[in-house]
Amino acid sequence: MAVDVLLGLQWGDEGKGKIVDVLTPKYDVIARFQGGPNAGHTLKFEDTKHVLHQIPSGIFHKDKLNVIGNGVVLDPITFKKEIEALRVLSAFNMESLVVSKKAQLIIPTHRLLDVAYEESKGARKIGSTLKGIGPTYEDKISRNGLRAGDILSPEFDEKYNKLKKRHTDILDTYGFAYDLEPLEKEFYEAVNFLKQFSLVDSEYLLNNKLAEGKTILAEGAQGSLLDIDFGSYPFVTSSNTTTAAACTGLGIAPNKIGEVFGIFKAYCTRVGSGPFPTELFDETGELMRKNGAEFGATTGRPRRCGWLDLPALKYAIMVCGATKLYMMKADVLSGFEEIKVCIHYKNAEGELLSSIPYDLGENGLTPIYQSFAGWEDDLTEMTSFDQLPGQLTSYIDFIESEVGVPIEIVSIGPDRKQTLIK
Ligand code: GDP
Ligand code: IMO
Ligand code: MG
Repeated sequence: MAVDVLLGLQWGDEGKGKIVDVLTPKYDVIARFQGGPNAGHTLKFEDTKHVLHQIPSGIFHKDKLNVIGNGVVLDPITFKKEIEALRVLSAFNMESLVVSKKAQLIIPTHRLLDVAYEESKGARKIGSTLKGIGPTYEDKISRNGLRAGDILSPEFDEKYNKLKKRHTDILDTYGFAYDLEPLEKEFYEAVNFLKQFSLVDSEYLLNNKLAEGKTILAEGAQGSLLDIDFGSYPFVTSSNTTTAAACTGLGIAPNKIGEVFGIFKAYCTRVGSGPFPTELFDETGELMRKNGAEFGATTGRPRRCGWLDLPALKYAIMVCGATKLYMMKADVLSGFEEIKVCIHYKNAEGELLSSIPYDLGENGLTPIYQSFAGWEDDLTEMTSFDQLPGQLTSYIDFIESEVGVPIEIVSIGPDRKQTLIK
């Protein structure tokens, strides 16, 4: 059996949570492989809307196993809150979730460091979610981190204090004021809470499941254009968000990867700073934000909106090896007279570029658009591809022919049911 991977091809918030929830019935195991509480994955069904941050989006289906993989950075405080919120919805049993012992732990001073680093950047700030993601991955790579498995060690306090000291020394050099006591109290309560859960060698667990013929869906967080290597550096997150990260973040060998489902919005959004060539600053962008309810699921910040960017999408498809595409939020474009899609960029020298440049924010880079006729139809009640307006199918056909990968799902609303599968 192979592991299928589902990930975002843009700057995050493509609708990964919704689609993982839709696909979960086909799989035995759902596994998150990177990122942490910077993610906000929204699910909607039976009038319930729920946002998950670290817990995989298969959690609402009984009898499925959800795995938080070694590539994830886990904040015990957010974890406790998430489980408590699921218990309110009676949507949780202990057997349905396991955590890799090798997942790195976010401690309170990681979050403080995130704030201190952002403040020191001034106008060049990343627009981080301030959840401690960067500092935690930094400690992982510099071999100073704490891992989930460490909470079971008699030396946990000692390890924690050593890491904290490292952080407070840095915070002091930044002149950053903080009161750690209440944060630490909350952290230790959450660590004790986490001890009730199965902390596992998830690489063995997942490979054994594969050997037994079980099916696994790997759930990405963020999006390809936020990847630490391939994204719009330095305005990125601190992990690899592309397909290869499913291998390192779960302990799955590359030859065990099956389908790669690439999710993209019918337009583009971005939250936080950084280049966004097709961004709209006019009433069209406002309308996208309004129709698409484009406000961050983790921070509530308004998302920047713009037209679909094909050079960027092709790049993400290339780097991820996407085998199938899912187009999200097609309903949001209903009522737009004209739909535009960026097919090239023009640089300051007037050259046409069909690939993305080294610096997506370089001066003078302008998108060159192709226009499509819009549609008035409300898509949200439609039940099959055949009902989609001709203008939308032309738009879909054009994208497929440009990128060379089939669009197999068109999403027409936030609810599970509002999903058209070809
Ligand atoms: P994720 O981070 O990729 O899981 O995406 P988010 O949950 O952060 O953002 C996607 C937002 O769009 C959420 O509010 C979803 O409920 C919503 N959504 C998902 N698919 C659709 C869709 O097809 N149409 C509309 N209108 N909303 C959608
Ligand atoms: P999901 O999984 C959208 C963005 C932040 C910021 C940059 C770095 O819901 O799609 P970080 O907190 O990682 O230091 O922030 O990345 N970002 C996201 N944008 N969706 C996300 O996750 C994001 N996770 C991080 O806004 O620009
Ligand atoms: Mg999100």
